[in-house]
Amino acid sequence: MRVGDLRTPAALIDLDALERNVARMGATAAHLGVRLRPHVKTHKTLEGARIQVRGQFGGITVSTLAEAVFFAAGGFSDITYAVPVAPAKLAEAADLAGRLDRFNLLVDHSDAAAAVEACARERGVVLSVFLKVDCGYHRAGVDPEHAESAALAARLAASPHLDFRGILTHAGQSYHCRTADEIRAVAAHERDVMAAFAGRLRAAGVRVDEVSVGSTPTLAVAADLTGITEVRPGNYAFFDATQAAIGSCALADVAFSVLLTVIGRYPERRELLLDGGALALSKDPGPVHVDPACGYGIVCAAGGEPLPGWRVVSLSQEHGLARSAQPLPTGSFPIGSLLRIVPNHSCLAAALFERYAVVRGDLVVDEWCPARGW
Ligand SMILES: Cc1ncc(COP(=O)(O)O)c(C=O)c1O
Repeated sequence: MRVGDLRTPAALIDLDALERNVARMGATAAHLGVRLRPHVKTHKTLEGARIQVRGQFGGITVSTLAEAVFFAAGGFSDITYAVPVAPAKLAEAADLAGRLDRFNLLVDHSDAAAAVEACARERGVVLSVFLKVDCGYHRAGVDPEHAESAALAARLAASPHLDFRGILTHAGQSYHCRTADEIRAVAAHERDVMAAFAGRLRAAGVRVDEVSVGSTPTLAVAADLTGITEVRPGNYAFFDATQAAIGSCALADVAFSVLLTVIGRYPERRELLLDGGALALSKDPGPVHVDPACGYGIVCAAGGEPLPGWRVVSLSQEHGLARSAQPLPTGSFPIGSLLRIVPNHSCLAAALFERYAVVRGDLVVDEWCPARGW
């Protein structure tokens, strides 16, 4: 089967690009002297994760309990669930922990710590925990400067029902950067905040085995990760229009795109109607801080070459509108022709599909099915 034979909307994974991206991140982690625990939420597939852990220690990061269960069933035995755990999910998480070599949970609040501890005590098991730290993203995590944060780490480490692994952060503020230099500063800050906090905890007698950081932008530029033990990038497997805009990758590195069909043609407004909307591309606003008119993705020809001057200007549920800065040449982009869109956020767009067509060049070589649900 060839790309042109696919029913649209179709999610495409360019396997050559994905393998290059994975090899590059593996080399980066080796060069920086840290373990690579890839975040697999970007694609949520066993096949993709197996490629990512090749030559690595085998641990992965997930963002839902459903992913954890899916990857455990697929043979992964060292998993970090990198979202603070909801108390109501603890019984299921504890069951899963019993079937794995290691299942790390995250807490960033004393009430959550108490709930994890109570669950472990009641079941007579020991649960692995990380203390989630806020290194400037202000989404989740404790303030590393606050005395209560060190006290919470000490409490986790002292509990006979918990195996305190260490501290973990995600510098998601790197996505707000405009240049590689700005990202470099965030990467250095992420490292420094975490290394310093780990140092203070150790000085207070708390054992900190793991200092875990990671986002795709910061890992794309990090030059020195002294004090860090582990990195957890995820988006790097695919990259997307946002990563290309902020300087984490080149457009040619992007391994994920959405194939759509032209179903309407309006030369008077230089627009094409496409058979995929927000449920094929997601409505992530993209890198508007770099390019306010970026629209909802980069428009490419069916073969993947970017089409200069084109934007996806509007999305409704199942309609997408692409507009050209130039008049449409007569006969161009006829109804039924195909376009590829590089979405603003590949993790969100990929999660909208039940299957991905895995391609090498124009050839469809495989089909991968992601974990679904929560
Ligand atoms: C806790 C955590 N770790 C790691 C990652 C991976 O970051 P990225 O997709 O930028 O590589 C994410 C992404 O949201 C995350 O939330």
